[in-house]
Amino acid sequence: MEKERKLIVAGNWKMNKTVAEALDLVKGLKLELNNLKDIDVVVCPPFTALSEVSKEVIDGDIRLGCQNMSEHSGGAYTGEISAIMLKEFLVRYVILGHSERRQYQEESDELINTKTKAALAASLKPIVCVGETLEQREADETEAIIGKQVRGCLAGLENSQMEEVILAYEPVWAIGTGKTATAEQAQAVHAFIRSVLVELFDEATAKRVRIQYGGSVKPNNARELLGQPDIDGALVGGAALEVRSFSDIVKNCLDD
Ligand code: 13P
Repeated sequence: MEKERKLIVAGNWKMNKTVAEALDLVKGLKLELNNLKDIDVVVCPPFTALSEVSKEVIDGDIRLGCQNMSEHSGGAYTGEISAIMLKEFLVRYVILGHSERRQYQEESDELINTKTKAALAASLKPIVCVGETLEQREADETEAIIGKQVRGCLAGLENSQMEEVILAYEPVWAIGTGKTATAEQAQAVHAFIRSVLVELFDEATAKRVRIQYGGSVKPNNARELLGQPDIDGALVGGAALEVRSFSDIVKNCLDD
């Protein structure tokens, strides 16, 4: 698949997998996915499995990410995990502002902005998630909501910092529901996000930023979605939990 930007497919394992299960999965992925020159493949296990999964991926092409981090660098924040602790396990990516955290932990765009800056300061690549609910889409508010989230989460970043950020468009109504946005619906929002990036940064920066789509990505729809001009990868939930489905998603995006 000829693309302007290098594709990035990441698996968000959410609150799934014991250490033993995580090792089974990553070992299976290592057998299926190697020589990944044209695509970045990232797995984001739960914190408890990072240490062991890290040892498995250290010598291969699969990269390690995690699902959240504290905006603070250390201190009296019970239950939190800082960027420097994550870097001990060679974590390179951190998912920030996932809609489940926005919903259940009430994370705001402002907090996600602070976390994004903390991640960048520690040389972690943030995967910043945005997305509208079904009610918002039906009320024709998609662009207003996405525009607000993008502006809020990225406020105050330098152009050079923005190039390290990955955005993920995840319509809330498509997450875990089996209802994927059509390729046209997703492309329209991705193009809109890129137009906001031109306004906030500049044309050249906006062209370099990778925007993933997430929400019921499966082996049978990944290729069409990632074939769209402004869709530069996928953030995969359910289908990232099995070797077969995740490796098929990656392979289906590569084969010509
Ligand atoms: P599903 O692929 O299970 O819909 O989840 C998407 C997601 O939330 C990835 O972050």
